[in-house]
Amino acid sequence: MISVMVTFKKQTFLKKLSGHRSLRILKKHQKVILLISAAVIALSAGAYYKLSNPELVLPILPPPPSDALYKQADAPIDKRIDDLLSRMSLEEKIGQMALVDKRSFKQIEDVSKYGIGGVLSGAGARPKTNNPAEWRKMVTEFQEQAKQSRLGIPVLYGIDANHGHAGVLGATIFPHAIGLGASGDPKLVKAVARATADELRATNINWNYSPSLDAPKDIRWGRVYEAFSDNPSLNGTLGSAYVEGTQERVKDNYRVIGSTKHFMGIGSMVWGQSNHKEFKIDQGKIPADQTLLENEMLPPYKQVISEQQVGSVMIALSDWGDQRIIENKYLLTDKLKNELGLKGFIVSDWYGAYEYARMSKYDANIKTINAGLDMVMLPYEYKTFIYDVRKAVQENEISEERINDAVKRILYQKFSTGLFDNPISKTPVEVVGSEKHRELAREAVASSAVLLKNNNVLPLSKNTGKILIAGSGADNVGRQSGAWTVEWQGVDGNWLPGAQSILEGIKETVGNSGTEIEYSKDGTFNQSDAKAEVGLAIVSEKPYAEGWGDNELPQLDQADLETIDRLKKSSNKVVVVIFSGRPLIITQHLSGWDGLVAAWLPGSEGRGIADVLFGDKQFSAKLPITWPASIDQVPVKTNGQTNNNTDPLFKRGAGLSY
Ligand code: BGC
Repeated sequence: MISVMVTFKKQTFLKKLSGHRSLRILKKHQKVILLISAAVIALSAGAYYKLSNPELVLPILPPPPSDALYKQADAPIDKRIDDLLSRMSLEEKIGQMALVDKRSFKQIEDVSKYGIGGVLSGAGARPKTNNPAEWRKMVTEFQEQAKQSRLGIPVLYGIDANHGHAGVLGATIFPHAIGLGASGDPKLVKAVARATADELRATNINWNYSPSLDAPKDIRWGRVYEAFSDNPSLNGTLGSAYVEGTQERVKDNYRVIGSTKHFMGIGSMVWGQSNHKEFKIDQGKIPADQTLLENEMLPPYKQVISEQQVGSVMIALSDWGDQRIIENKYLLTDKLKNELGLKGFIVSDWYGAYEYARMSKYDANIKTINAGLDMVMLPYEYKTFIYDVRKAVQENEISEERINDAVKRILYQKFSTGLFDNPISKTPVEVVGSEKHRELAREAVASSAVLLKNNNVLPLSKNTGKILIAGSGADNVGRQSGAWTVEWQGVDGNWLPGAQSILEGIKETVGNSGTEIEYSKDGTFNQSDAKAEVGLAIVSEKPYAEGWGDNELPQLDQADLETIDRLKKSSNKVVVVIFSGRPLIITQHLSGWDGLVAAWLPGSEGRGIADVLFGDKQFSAKLPITWPASIDQVPVKTNGQTNNNTDPLFKRGAGLSY
């Protein structure tokens, strides 16, 4: 009854309402009203956008005279810098501090319009057609734009060539740093860095975001392979050699600059404390421990700076205690610049000034630049950056002196490397993936493979009769190369031009010796055949980069373990070769293997592994990192001891030879 009454009342009310005059008007002009409201909404959205993205209006300034001192190649560098700085507007200075991913430019002319200081190819940022000539063309266009800016200051063009110029199809892919660390050979590391710099120069790039000086204590971290070792002192020595090779002078050409990273000590991040929702340890926290800082985190930087004056240092996305490293003036200015004497500039990591900032971008600029940050890997909005930093300077929140210091440091690199006078490289594009570099890479591969177990099975004879080969890594140059190969997370498969899988390398090594090589990826061989003398299982981790590689329990895939079991049935002896970016937990399987080689992520020259397996070269590499027996032994200590003082599976420094 009540509900009937309510319904009735509702109906009469609606009837009355629809008969109301104003509603009738509304109905009649419905379309017009809708249009007006849409316009009002659009206008206010526009006004809001304008308020939060105010237009950057640049002062119109005359070009400098053609004989300005800073343009004279034979004038002293400090005079050139002072002259140039005195001609720069505040906006131009801030433009020099901007580092922008190439994909962020809607129009490439903005490079000259805003006087952008640095451009980068973040992972995967490449020309439409990926080949060396197209890379060169793409980078040259940015450099040409910079030349056309009012002051004609060249851009630094940066990339992560952390195992060769591996974003480029056809480049030589060297072993990842963990393999170079296993070689322990500064001469080799220097040569690899120099060859990489030459391949960069062939594509007109002048800045390598390498080497990493991180000392990973926890194999669960997805960036172990980017580091030379878990030993800060070896990292200092090899880091210095790497920077020496990178920054070496080349006649009639610019010098490439390096960037040691990730300042500082992020190999000590604590599992479970990542700031990133989907990561477990990467981009996380390191303890604010003064002893650790002095004894372990700073020394490799001290060595590289005092020996090589590295061009730039990249700051980690991590926290030291409860403060972001990037906003810590004590670490950036007091320690890195003043105490360690860095003449180069400080650059942030990807979006690093803002990531996890807990404050507005405007405030984050103030905080990080005042802490000592010189070049900001934005890597997106450069106009807002210039606008905001200009405002912060005008409001005395950043001093002009701080801006001048940052810009001077950046300009110093541009002048002292010869970039200012030779912005376009004379290195021919054919240097990318050249025979000479591939030979060097092959040598590096052989020098980085660590022999960990050998029950009289290696070296293999080239007259073995029959060798069976199996495993996920045997014929897969993508797996062999790991992350930062064409794509950020690496690639799977055999489609890297010029790269040779280990299977192909072995076939070439054996040649016509009469040894039969049989391959089956999953280890299925004809059971009725007589057992082969040797089975080689080449197993691998899938490529991964950064936090996506954080892994609670790094171990072999079930599929690879089954492959090894099958292979055992067809071979008298089994040797396991592991392609991985870190030690894996293999303790329970080891006794069933006759030989074990940790080959890390060797890159494009599979033949280098064959060289040591067949004894054409001696195994000489040593474990650069503690190989835990179980996961409760991590994080390891600085001296390589396990967390609970029990014996690891293999100690740092382990490695057999023939
Ligand atoms: C990495 C850096 C790298 C930068 C630029 C970041 O994601 O942490 O190591 O240099 O990207 O590509």
